[in-house]
Amino acid sequence: MLYLIGNWKMAPEKNSQVIDLVKKTTAIARTYKKSLTTIICPPAVFLPAVVKNAKVPLLVGAQGLAASDAIAQTGLISAGMLKDNGAAYCIIGHSEMRARGDNNEIVKQQLTKLFDKKIVPILCIGEKTRDTQGWYLSEIKEQLETAFADLVPLQAKKIIIAYEPVWAIGKDATRAATPAECREMMIFIRKMLSDKYDEKIAKSIVLLYGGSADEFNARSFVTDGAAQGFLVGRVSLEAKRLEALAKAITTPEK
Ligand code: PGA
Repeated sequence: MLYLIGNWKMAPEKNSQVIDLVKKTTAIARTYKKSLTTIICPPAVFLPAVVKNAKVPLLVGAQGLAASDAIAQTGLISAGMLKDNGAAYCIIGHSEMRARGDNNEIVKQQLTKLFDKKIVPILCIGEKTRDTQGWYLSEIKEQLETAFADLVPLQAKKIIIAYEPVWAIGKDATRAATPAECREMMIFIRKMLSDKYDEKIAKSIVLLYGGSADEFNARSFVTDGAAQGFLVGRVSLEAKRLEALAKAITTPEK
């Protein structure tokens, strides 16, 4: 089973667009339900409308939350609120959140809050830049070590990790990663998890790729990049392209 997770970021603007997109994404989730687990993560304000219009097997998540339940956090949203509004998953550690201050320590606290409320974490990790000496690996190592520091195997197994090189994300991306770059990182992440826990647990953790994934490059990330699916930004807002991506990763090669 592959994962297809839509990160809607701060879009769309209108409720009417939200309802249209949920309906179209539900149709995609239905068509590919045998091989894909499809999840959408809208802005929190749209959760009630999304939950109301999303039909089985489409699943609903959220994006970001406060690291503690203290009330005096103007502008933030708690894990309890997300849960009560129907979020079963939540994206944390995204580079756009890290850029606004969500450091490794905060991500670690967010993980605790999500586990408290039984929300599945979608943990984003990724290096800001690449170098030829492999120093970027230490950035990933630190992100992983801090996030998993206090997690017992039962919790670790539940996390979905999205490897998203920062330089490959969004409209200003230099390029998508290559499947070979993705594969190297998937091996590195699994090795780290296997060293901390064991091989069985490391193998059970879902590893996704994100960053300019589209209908043209997606298949090679699965066949050659060892990705078990995708966290998709821009393409998740365009139902036709999302459908083409879903088709590309599920149609067997002739
Ligand atoms: P993108 O975004 O697919 O638009 O590059 C991915 C993400 O930020 O999760």
